[in-house]
Amino acid sequence: MDKKIEQTQKLTISTDVDELVGWLSSTGDRQTALFERAREVKLNRIGNVVHFRGLIEFSNLCRKNCFYCGIRKDNKQVSRYSLSEEEIVTAARYAFDNGFGSVVLQSGEITSQEFTDFIERVIKKIRQSTSPEIGITLSLGEQSEETYLRWREAGAQRYLLRIETSNPKLYKLLHPDDSLHRFETRLNCLYLLKKLNYQVGTGVMIGLPFQTLEDLANDLIFMYRFDIDMCGMGPYIEHAQTPLYNFNSELMSLQQRFDLSLKMIALLRLLMPDINIAATTALQAIDPIGREKAIRVGANIIMPNITPAKYREHYLLYENKPCIDENADDCLSCLEARIAMIDHRIGKNERGDSLHYQNRNKKNQVYGSYLSGQNQ
Ligand code: 5AD
Ligand code: SF4
Ligand code: FES
Repeated sequence: MDKKIEQTQKLTISTDVDELVGWLSSTGDRQTALFERAREVKLNRIGNVVHFRGLIEFSNLCRKNCFYCGIRKDNKQVSRYSLSEEEIVTAARYAFDNGFGSVVLQSGEITSQEFTDFIERVIKKIRQSTSPEIGITLSLGEQSEETYLRWREAGAQRYLLRIETSNPKLYKLLHPDDSLHRFETRLNCLYLLKKLNYQVGTGVMIGLPFQTLEDLANDLIFMYRFDIDMCGMGPYIEHAQTPLYNFNSELMSLQQRFDLSLKMIALLRLLMPDINIAATTALQAIDPIGREKAIRVGANIIMPNITPAKYREHYLLYENKPCIDENADDCLSCLEARIAMIDHRIGKNERGDSLHYQNRNKKNQVYGSYLSGQNQ
């Protein structure tokens, strides 16, 4: 036993592609040692606390055609919906009343002046109807700097925008080759969000057709170098009504995609001990206790779905999405029981901001005051 502890304590990870590939292909004792170390680091740095983000998937309208996504614009079998301002605020109020630290407003990618105005109003209303104010995270795709700024000034603190893959060649294979789907635009948006002082979250899909372990190792290095505050990543899950479905023969098994996702989470926790890492719903689509397993190996955030039940079946990015027939109360009590089972507690009524963001800002302040001292 002692020997094992010693072994795990020695385990350190660096941003070396070959080393990371080695860990991503690990099995047996080596994989167990990775998981144990990631768990230890999480418990030391973050504790055994899980923070909830109430996920409101308020519209499935989207102007894009990502080859992997079930709600892509050209999927005519999707019945499109959008929640009203009032429905969104009511859902946010539900989150607040149930002690959630924050809400995530997610939709397909919609860009228009009306949409920018709509979101700005929603942010302000959510802030007015919760005291102390609930945290607001946006997940609304690529937008102009001006729009990002307006939403930031209205009071949103965090933004999630997955890079999907850090390999521009693979990105190209997964998206139509047109001006709406450029890797460079995605990257630039991430820089804008950082510049505007959002807590920035990104992430990737794991087990995509044509994706290699080197790609995934580089994804980890990308997130490390970009110095992200939050991460949401999970397995790619095929959807029959998408073009990428034709490449199913290239896929590894669902179980392999799941295992690889856990290893990605554990490695990222070791590389970036103080960021927020979500145990994503796609993990649960493969394994009924997938999210709990992710919490055990380093994740610290869960995003319970609080979208009104009648809309849920229309927001299917991938197949077998869980919680479609449940409502917000069902998901909440389900998750409370699950988290208690793995000896964690829920950080009720706490924002659960990314410690990394706080630390990064502290560093900037020290640096800033040093600079202003020099100027005097
Ligand atoms: N499998 C897994 N994740 C998917 N997403 C979209 N389609 C799929 C899929 N088929 C993810 C993308 C996107 C997020 C909103 O959902 O990473 O950024
Ligand atoms: Fe639209 Fe996002 Fe789906 Fe791409 S992944 S089609 S941007 S909802
Ligand atoms: Fe939705 Fe378990 S989290 S039913």
